[in-house]
Amino acid sequence: MKIAIMGAMPEEVEPILKKLDSYKTTEFAKNRYYEGKYKGVDVVVAYSKIGKVFSALTATTLIEHFGCEMLLFSGVAGAINEKLSIGDLIVATKLSQHDLDITIFGHPYGFVPEGSVYVEADKNLIELSKKVAKDLGVEVLEGIIATGDQFIADEEKKEFIKNTFKADAIEMEGASVAVVCDALKVPFFILRSISDAADMDAGFNFEEFVESSAKISADFLMKMVDELAGKNL
Ligand code: ADE
Repeated sequence: MKIAIMGAMPEEVEPILKKLDSYKTTEFAKNRYYEGKYKGVDVVVAYSKIGKVFSALTATTLIEHFGCEMLLFSGVAGAINEKLSIGDLIVATKLSQHDLDITIFGHPYGFVPEGSVYVEADKNLIELSKKVAKDLGVEVLEGIIATGDQFIADEEKKEFIKNTFKADAIEMEGASVAVVCDALKVPFFILRSISDAADMDAGFNFEEFVESSAKISADFLMKMVDELAGKNL
């Protein structure tokens, strides 16, 4: 089993690359892919660049070009649920594109014909994350993640996304990766650690906490890969 490990920004994958035994760098479609081994498991690591288009391209490449059969995403998010503070972890149960809007034609937000408002993440990987959380003694919230091509730093937009999608956190890649994995029938898992609260301080908080929160997420994700390695998939 070859596992794709993805982030959107260098900060999100650097802590992961540091843990690999060794890796080879390949350029493809204007991006870099790091093929390596972690505890005997074949992994391909990449950061996509920010946003839905780049993340969809990278997820597709990891699956179709590099032959990955499972995709794990690690990164940071803005909190919507008030239970979430900076550094806390959230696992996506399902994801939606909050900026997808053809409501003028009578469709709900986040929906286009032949698509769905939400895409559900792999239940087995969510179960595995619960085991890892228990073993590590850390709390991980399971919730809905909303994705769009906007950094949200505005209470009104945040309220709209909260009310429309019942979202617990917001970011810029999860739902597009989810659409790709769902279409290509590859189990996927999206993990985020909170860097800000998508409010007027979000830009400032993001800059301050992106690195530390990205590392919290990456460290947890690699514990999950430890477990997967033990299963000899
Ligand atoms: N990723 C981290 N914080 C975010 C925010 N406030 N909006 C969108 N994506 C984010």
